[in-house]
Amino acid sequence: MNTSYWQAIKNRRTYYALGNEPVTGDGRIEELVQQAVQHVPSSFNSQSARVVVLLGEQHERLWELTKAELKRIVPADAFAATEQKIDGAFRSGYGSILYFEDMSVVEALQQKFPAYRDNFPIWSQQSSGMLQFAIWTALELDGWGASLQHYNPVIDAAVKSAWGIEPAWKLVAQMPFGKPLAQPAAKEFQPLAGRVHLYK
Ligand SMILES: Cc1cc2nc3c(=O)[nH]c(=O)nc-3n(C[C@H](O)[C@H](O)[C@H](O)COP(=O)(O)O)c2cc1C
Repeated sequence: MNTSYWQAIKNRRTYYALGNEPVTGDGRIEELVQQAVQHVPSSFNSQSARVVVLLGEQHERLWELTKAELKRIVPADAFAATEQKIDGAFRSGYGSILYFEDMSVVEALQQKFPAYRDNFPIWSQQSSGMLQFAIWTALELDGWGASLQHYNPVIDAAVKSAWGIEPAWKLVAQMPFGKPLAQPAAKEFQPLAGRVHLYK
C-alpha cells in the first residue's frame, strides 16, 4: 500500500476554524483544481464538472451574498447564529471553491443513450463527489483546511448573477478553505465488520 496516499486520505478532515492567511500561492491552488478537474473520472468520460475558484474579495462576496439570501428565509431570532457560523467558519477563510455540473452535458447524454436516462444525473453527482474529495484531500496535503457546504439551491440565482455563470451549470457544493486555526475533534468510526464483506 502506498503510505502517502492513505495518509492523505486519513488526514483530510472538516475544518470550521479558518483564517485568511495564505498557506500556498494562488497558482498552486489553481493548479491542484485543474489537475483534479482533468483527471477525476466521469460517466462516459462526459467531463461535466465545472469549477469556480473564488479568492480574497470574491470569496468574501460569496459569503456576504449567502448571508443576504439566508436572511430572507431564516427566522430573525435565528439569523445571528447563522451569521456567526458563516463569518467564523467560512467567510473567515482564504477562498471558496464552487462545484457545478453542466446539465447541458448530462441532458445530451440522456438523449443519446435513453436506456441510461435516469442514471446520468446520478452519475453526474457521483463524479462531482469524487472531484470534491480529490480537491479537499489535495488542499489538506498542501496545509489548507476546508469544509463542504450546501447552501444551494438557496444561493443559486445570486451566485449565477454575481459571476455570470452559464444557466445550464447546476451548483452542487461550496468548499470554503483557509489556514486551519484549530484541529478538528477526533472522529468516531463505526466497526468495519458489517460495513465491509469479503467473499472468496
Ligand atoms: C456528501 C457530503 C455532504 C456534506 N455536507 C455538509 C454540509 O452541508 N455542511 C457541513 O458542515 N458539512 C458537510 N459535510 C461534512 C461531513 O459532515 C463530514 O465530512 C463528516 O462529519 C466527517 O468528518 P470529516 O470530514 O472531518 O472526516 C458533508 C460531507 C459529505 C461527504
